[in-house]
Amino acid sequence: MKLIVGNQKTYLSQKEINDFVEFFKDKKFENVVIVPTYIYINSFRESCFALGSQDVSISVLENVTGEVTANQLKSLNVQYTLIGHSERRSGFQEGKDILIDKINNLLENDIVPILCIGESSEEREKNIQNEVIEGQISEIFSHLDNTSYDNVVIAYEPIWAIGSGKTPSNVEIEEMINYIKNIVKKDYKVDLKVLYGGSVSSKNISELNKIDIVDGYLIGKASTIKDEFLNIIESSQ
Ligand code: PGA
Repeated sequence: MKLIVGNQKTYLSQKEINDFVEFFKDKKFENVVIVPTYIYINSFRESCFALGSQDVSISVLENVTGEVTANQLKSLNVQYTLIGHSERRSGFQEGKDILIDKINNLLENDIVPILCIGESSEEREKNIQNEVIEGQISEIFSHLDNTSYDNVVIAYEPIWAIGSGKTPSNVEIEEMINYIKNIVKKDYKVDLKVLYGGSVSSKNISELNKIDIVDGYLIGKASTIKDEFLNIIESSQ
């Protein structure tokens, strides 16, 4: 069964969240994670979704204004947290040191980090996407305690596919997911779940579902539209 992760970013108001929760109220899923803006996490606590967060503090202290710690996320039953999303890498200068500290804070609280990696359009044009991806994996994994490796999920999200309506071909996705799985198997001796993300929608989901090796999807905009998200979930069961 594929893991479906809906990253709602900053799209929705409280009223829209209420409508969304109401729409999904009688549904039952085992494999769907909702990743709301922090302020709406409580709205989903009794829902059919497992809970995720879009970020976590680098700090573990109790007196850091404006932050949300891993310990607090755990107290809300958050099970997954996005780490290294390209919007945070580029918009908030999050580099490897920050990402490693955040991942360690999550793992200490039994929360699964979903590590987002992906190449830019320039890197794909230069055909250096494999080197870029290998670098993004090793700069993190080489600093984690080896007992932690298999508690991480990877999301492959080419930056040029996020929010653009463009996706790589099935062959390109399959090649990259294979490549990622082989690296972590060879270098870190683990079999990890690898998700695909970037412009997943109800229009392309049946085509994407043909790629058996993909363990699930990280979905942005389409996870904020009720019928669209339900359609994607049902098509991927
Ligand atoms: P998108 O976003 O589905 O809107 O392209 C994906 C993501 O940023 O995780």
